[in-house]
Amino acid sequence: MRRAIYPGTFDPITNGHLDLIKRALKLFDELVIAIAVDSSKTPTFSLNERKDMIEQCLQGVSNIRVMSFNGLLMDFAQEVKALAIIRGLRAVSDFESELQMALVNRKLYEEGETVFLTPKADYIYLSSSIVKELAKLGGCIDDMVEPYVKSKLEEKFQSLL
Ligand code: COA
Repeated sequence: MRRAIYPGTFDPITNGHLDLIKRALKLFDELVIAIAVDSSKTPTFSLNERKDMIEQCLQGVSNIRVMSFNGLLMDFAQEVKALAIIRGLRAVSDFESELQMALVNRKLYEEGETVFLTPKADYIYLSSSIVKELAKLGGCIDDMVEPYVKSKLEEKFQSLL
């Protein structure tokens, strides 16, 4: 069983994340989508809301598990017996911080490999913050998130008005 982890804040999950998940599933038998609880970010969506959106977007996709983790990613990787951590490299600007994170993570858990995947070119510019900003200001996000996520963003920002 070749298991990998795809970690992130997923606040919310975007089509860029979904693209990476589908690519990773071609390489591994099982993918654990790991939502970080301890993050330097203050998420807009609760942990349950983020988990629900991921599950709705991946309905019918087999070989995935959606979990959350506290503390260090590499402790969680050992706990779930993952061989690899999947990270997306969207642009050169991602490289430096990703390299640093991969090297620190290797120090913490030598056996865990970081595997970098390149998202589809259409999603290179995407981030969860950009999607939230557009949703808040009435911009079109139809090709950036699944319809379910769009409806949750609309609900969230309407309730905050
Ligand atoms: N498509 C679209 N957007 C993407 C993307 C993709 N393929 N890949 C990343 N992004 C976006 C994310 O949505 C996020 O957007 P935001 O900043 O607007 O929220 C941004 O790019 C950064 O994403 P990422 O680099 O994946 O960071 P993250 O905050 O989502 O996750 C953790 C970082 C949780 C994986 C990392 O902090 C961690 O492992 N924390 C645990 C603690 C730990 O072990 N620390 C030691 C590590 S050295």
